Amino acid sequence: MERVGIIGIGEYLPKRVLTNQDLEKMVDTSDEWIITRTGIKERRLVEKGEATSDLAIRAAKEALQDAKLKSQDLELIIVATVTPDMQFPSVSCLVQSALEARNASCFDISAACAGFVYAIVVAQQFIVTGIYKNALVIGAEVLSSVTDWQDRSTCVLFGDGAGAVVLSRVKRGGIISVYLGADGTMADLLMIPAGGSRSPASFYTIENRMHYIKMRGNELFKIAVKIMAEAAQIALKKAGLSCKDVDCFIPHQANLRIISAVAKKIGLDEDKVYLNIHKYGNISSASTATALCEAVKEKRIKKGDIVVLDAFGAGLVWGACVIEW
Ligand SMILES: CC(C)(COP(=O)(O)OP(=O)(O)OC[C@H]1O[C@@H](n2cnc3c(N)ncnc32)[C@H](O)[C@@H]1OP(=O)(O)O)[C@@H](O)C(=O)NCCC(=O)NCCS
Repeated sequence: MERVGIIGIGEYLPKRVLTNQDLEKMVDTSDEWIITRTGIKERRLVEKGEATSDLAIRAAKEALQDAKLKSQDLELIIVATVTPDMQFPSVSCLVQSALEARNASCFDISAACAGFVYAIVVAQQFIVTGIYKNALVIGAEVLSSVTDWQDRSTCVLFGDGAGAVVLSRVKRGGIISVYLGADGTMADLLMIPAGGSRSPASFYTIENRMHYIKMRGNELFKIAVKIMAEAAQIALKKAGLSCKDVDCFIPHQANLRIISAVAKKIGLDEDKVYLNIHKYGNISSASTATALCEAVKEKRIKKGDIVVLDAFGAGLVWGACVIEW
């Protein structure tokens, strides 16, 4: 049976670099604390006025070019994001307009840091069922727009960026198995409290800094390790594979210590794990997207390799997928 596979990859990271030393001048923190607790050395930030769709469009163009497709060949565009340009229209519609991809249907997915994996799985279903032939999936975020730059417990963690893939039917390789999960009972561990219908923007919400990310990092840490390890194992089992078969593991890049603990828990060699957290921090849905793209560009992923995407985020939501490259 023909599978659905990734036929093009692309990414875009803003040029502006914010280092740990820069952060030392903004909040009471240190390069040493950030590196040892998170593995992050620097992150990329947009310029003023630059929005999520600007990053998404650049990543999408590169992915389309890599797939050797014209934008008119796209029948579906999904953008995974929690930082859309505005409440509506969707970022995917803005991307469609910029690409002149007039044959594509468009919607965004809100699955936080697992958004890219969720979006890949959704696009896969449309292609498997024969509804669409070619889909563009993008993970894009401007987390700097929702980061509280006075809160040292979160502002050292996040960055901006975008990664994109084009999905289509493939004759060899492709997505072997997928697994998605969620547990809304832990929604309060990571959220932006205001700006939605429950607490629309007001002087009160602004004064109380309620439009920024609020995170109970310590509690999340342990849950992330457990869930990411389980998700990878379930997806591998569904594929009839084990950790020994994995050539490249692309985890969500929230914290180097989480990633190392997950690798250890599932018995995966560290040299199979692809990392870009040191350069970009946590870019939510764009983390797995850019990591996949860079692993391919750096030839860490070759034809026939078994690749595992594994992500976890606010919701809580998680997902993993096993791909033969
Ligand atoms: C956020 C995170 C890096 C914090 O690391 P931690 O080891 O858990 O640190 P803690 O929150 O327990 O804080 C330890 C101490 O460091 C301090 N601290 C927090 N941020 C700091 C910073 N940027 N610089 C210096 N000190 C800091 C705390 O105030 C605390 O001090 P105290 O002991 O005097 O109270 C870590 O918990 C994490 O990565 N959590 C998961 C994140 C995640 O998965 N996010 C969502 C998935 S997308």
